[in-house]
This record gives sequence, C-alpha cells and structure tokens, in this order.
Amino acid sequence: MRLEMLFSAGGQNRLLPSLRQPLNLDDLIPGDGESADEWAGVWDGEWEVEIGFGKGRYLLERALAHPERRFLGFEVVSKYFRMLRRRARAHGVDNLLLVRGEALYALSAVLPKAFASILHIYFPDPWPKSRHQRRRLLDPKTLDLVLGVLRPGGELWFATDFIDYGERVVEILRAHPGLDVEIQPGPWPDGARTNYEAKYMQEGRPILRLRARSSTTADPAQLHPEGKIGVLSAVTNRRPPPPA
Ligand SMILES: C[S@@+](CC[C@H](N)C(=O)[O-])C[C@H]1O[C@@H](n2cnc3c(N)ncnc32)[C@H](O)[C@@H]1O
Repeated sequence: MRLEMLFSAGGQNRLLPSLRQPLNLDDLIPGDGESADEWAGVWDGEWEVEIGFGKGRYLLERALAHPERRFLGFEVVSKYFRMLRRRARAHGVDNLLLVRGEALYALSAVLPKAFASILHIYFPDPWPKSRHQRRRLLDPKTLDLVLGVLRPGGELWFATDFIDYGERVVEILRAHPGLDVEIQPGPWPDGARTNYEAKYMQEGRPILRLRARSSTTADPAQLHPEGKIGVLSAVTNRRPPPPA
C-alpha cells in the first residue's frame, strides 16, 4: 500500500455547495505503477480513521504505537498533509494512508462502509455562525455518512473546546438509535492527543470529550431520525483531458 494519496484537480465535489473541492477519483484506485492486486484486501484488518488530522501529531503517534493496525487520515489543508507525509516517511511508517481532500466526499463516493474500529474527530471546525452551521462535520444530515465507516461495535472518539457545538453533538448522537454515548470525564488517559488539545489544555479551556459506540447496521431504522429527511449526493464532473 502506498503511503499517501493526493486528490488533485479534475473534478468537482458537489456533496454540499460549501464543500467543493477538486477531486480526481483515479487517485483513489490503483494508479501508475500499481496493480489491483496491491489493493486486494486493503480494507481488511483493524482500521482507524481520523478526519481533520491538522498537523497530524496524534495520527502519527497512534500509527507508530500500533503497527498491527492501519490508519487512514483526511486533511483538506495541503500544508498539513505534506507536513505529516514528511514526518511519517521520516519515521518509516508503513501503516498510514493519508488523503488530502474533503473527507465527506471520499466517504460518500469512494470508500467502503463499515471497515473501521475507531473514528477520531478532534476539534473539528465549529462554524459558530448559524448560517454556517450546515458546514459542520457532525450534523444530523452527515452523521450516518460519517459514522458509516464504523463497523458494528466501532467507536467514535471526539473532542471539542467549542462547548455549544459539543453539546449539540451529544444531543445529535444521543438521538441516534444505533449509538451509545459516554462522556469522558476529564482528560483522556493518554493525555493531550492533538496540537489543539495540548494548546487548549495549557490555556485551561474547558474541553468536551466523548466516546460513542456504534451498533449501527445498514438497516434504515438505525439511521438518525433527522438525517433521514436529508439527501446527500455526490457527483463528479470529470473534465475531458486536454487535447494532445
Ligand atoms: C481546528 S483544526 C483541528 C486539527 C486537529 N484535529 C487538532 O485537534 O489539532 C480542524 C482541521 O480539520 C480539517 N478539516 C475540517 N473539515 C474537514 C473535512 N471535511 N475533511 C478533511 N479535513 C477537514 C481542517 O482543515 C483543519 O485542519
């Protein structure tokens, strides 16, 4: 398995108008010099996913600490993506797949369902203005898509310093018929995980942390009650290659 994949220009993400990102699906399937065999069984085994890894401190630490597991990280900011790629290569990591791109797009259009044991989301952008809240990563309309990576029994691990958003996330998760939510009282046993967490703990900011265990299956009765009324769709507009 190659270490990183790169979403590049060539398509448009229409998942949500606010989340348009260039994407080329060819980069997610065996490309130059790779055979389909190299990808066979790639989703087997224990997988953990992090959405919005930022500078990648936790994802790298976790990948190094658990060489028997595989890790998939999403980050839209190229600078952070390149930073983690460089550090991961320097450490000789071979169980980490990095995607620079919009996680919701990849989750809706490309990735298989129910392959991960843990989904990490730490300090996601809170989008505090009410007109921007539909851009939030965890929203009733996106929840089933995001949690769709978890296999039954898999867990979402989440933290935010934006308590209003955190409380809304708790409310959304608790309304989900396939989730069992547990608030983490105080810091994680392993201490500050990400850069944001370390910084905010030093500043003494309150942080809401939780774990939610999923028993969700593809059964429609197991979807979020508010999410069911929404429609999520993803379309790629592949531009034809330029004339030779
Ligand atoms: C506030 S930062 C937190 C970074 C890191 N998790 C931490 O705790 O230090 C949120 C990060 O998530 C990334 N991000 C937000 N939405 C994303 C999405 N839908 N797909 C991929 N990355 C996303 C942003 O680019 C940003 O780097």
